[in-house]
Amino acid sequence: MRLDKLLSECGYGSRGLVKKLIRSKQVSIDGEIVLAENRNVDPQLQKVMVSGKMLTHQTNVYYMLHKPAGVVTAVSDEGNRTVIDLIDPSDRRPGLYPVGRLDKDTEGLLLITDNGQLGYQLLLPHKKVMKSYEVVVNERVTTADQEAFAEGIVFHGGTTCKPAHLTILSHGDDESRVLLDISEGKFHQVKKMFLSVGKKVTYLKRLTMGPIELDESIPPGSYRPLNEAELEQLKPFFR
Ligand code: URA
Repeated sequence: MRLDKLLSECGYGSRGLVKKLIRSKQVSIDGEIVLAENRNVDPQLQKVMVSGKMLTHQTNVYYMLHKPAGVVTAVSDEGNRTVIDLIDPSDRRPGLYPVGRLDKDTEGLLLITDNGQLGYQLLLPHKKVMKSYEVVVNERVTTADQEAFAEGIVFHGGTTCKPAHLTILSHGDDESRVLLDISEGKFHQVKKMFLSVGKKVTYLKRLTMGPIELDESIPPGSYRPLNEAELEQLKPFFR
């Protein structure tokens, strides 16, 4: 958020008054005096001081949810439990939303926040944010599949996927377990990629999104706030 908006919200008066305060060198971010009132700032990630006092502000919330199968990735839904229903009412904020979408039967890492900018930046196609999935399919995954994924799977209908990395963990005639790294987020992408090589996904779990890794100590259906180190790693996506 803009520095002048933040200070105004924190009780330092109108934008005009706040501008004067900033121009009189009373405001610093991470120890550096700031003179531009339009400077972007996140007081959860940066230390903002005003006239020698640390700014206290109710900032955005960032949760890591271990999504269980059976809930929908939506803010509200008629008839289905949503990922937002899993957030305790005392932790809810207006504007809370899931970053990206996991299918109802998919498990794993889902970021939930009220920071609209974060979701926007993480999902921008040109940012090519990597996501990794643990996938179980109903047939033997082969090196030919690995090559096809590396070249770029073409969906029935012509859509081409970006090259993806497939690591085989185990393979048998009627079940294989793999890790898949992809840098895009087409609708039902993983399932459709495997269908393109004739295999059906029977289990899907997201393990990472960009720099954030699922904390496996969080039981499915539970969540925790992102810690300082995780927020620091998300910093590039806050602008
Ligand atoms: N790809 C899918 O097919 N489903 C998901 O839930 C996520 C990625």
